[in-house]
Amino acid sequence: MPEPRQNHRPMAQGQWTAVDEYVTGLLVPEEAALEAAERNSEDARLPPIQVSPPQGKLLYLLARSIGARRILEFGTLGAYSTIWLGRALPEDGRLITLEADPGYAEVARANISRAGLEGVVDLRVGAALDLLSVLREEGPFDFTFIDADKENSPAYFAWALDHSRPGALIVADNVVREGTLADPESDDPKVLAQRQLHEAVAAEDRVSATTIQTVGGKGYDGFMVALVEP
Ligand code: SAH
Ligand code: DHB
Ligand code: MG
Repeated sequence: MPEPRQNHRPMAQGQWTAVDEYVTGLLVPEEAALEAAERNSEDARLPPIQVSPPQGKLLYLLARSIGARRILEFGTLGAYSTIWLGRALPEDGRLITLEADPGYAEVARANISRAGLEGVVDLRVGAALDLLSVLREEGPFDFTFIDADKENSPAYFAWALDHSRPGALIVADNVVREGTLADPESDDPKVLAQRQLHEAVAAEDRVSATTIQTVGGKGYDGFMVALVEP
């Protein structure tokens, strides 16, 4: 009997990365500002956990496809996803992005400004849950991207839903977590929070949602996409 392969992931990872590079080369030509944002974030030693280029473009396409004018983002990091989303907005659009780490926010601010988006993007520094109370007046939002501390994704989703217009999209990153989403043995609080998110959404009449598993340069994870019912 052949030995079972102990670890097929590294091989798959190479292929996933190669396909991401292939797709990016043909379909996701990055503008200079996006490349600069990646480079500056790397130089500033930010963790390399931004969405991949194909994922960034997906966020951009989703926001454009619903004609989003007001966007809310949880978790800015160096503003890579922020710039993709900002590019989807009309000139008078507005994107509020929330970041807890002042050092990351400084890098993000420079990247936003290099992208010419300082008139559109409103970056707020602090723990997102503390910032939400003053955001009440800024909504309703057309598009929300949840990508901050994963334990709070259910709370961010609940707030976003209460402050979304009918027809809005809410997208949550990192919900599959290498498949542990469906592993009953996992007691990782980040995983439990994603399960809680799925259960809350399942019980919620105001949204229709699905989760798509993703592989690529960032490994194996997934997005939840929820439409706020018109
Ligand atoms: N959306 C970014 C990646 C975000 S990484 C992109 O794809 O380009 C997650 C970010 O959430 C980190 O920058 C982290 O500092 C921030 N974060 C963590 N806890 C937070 C909190 N409580 N409130 C706001 N931001 C938080
Ligand atoms: C992490 C955060 C993210 O938003 C992500 O997409 C990948 C990893 C993290 O905190 O490790
Ligand atoms: Mg993420």
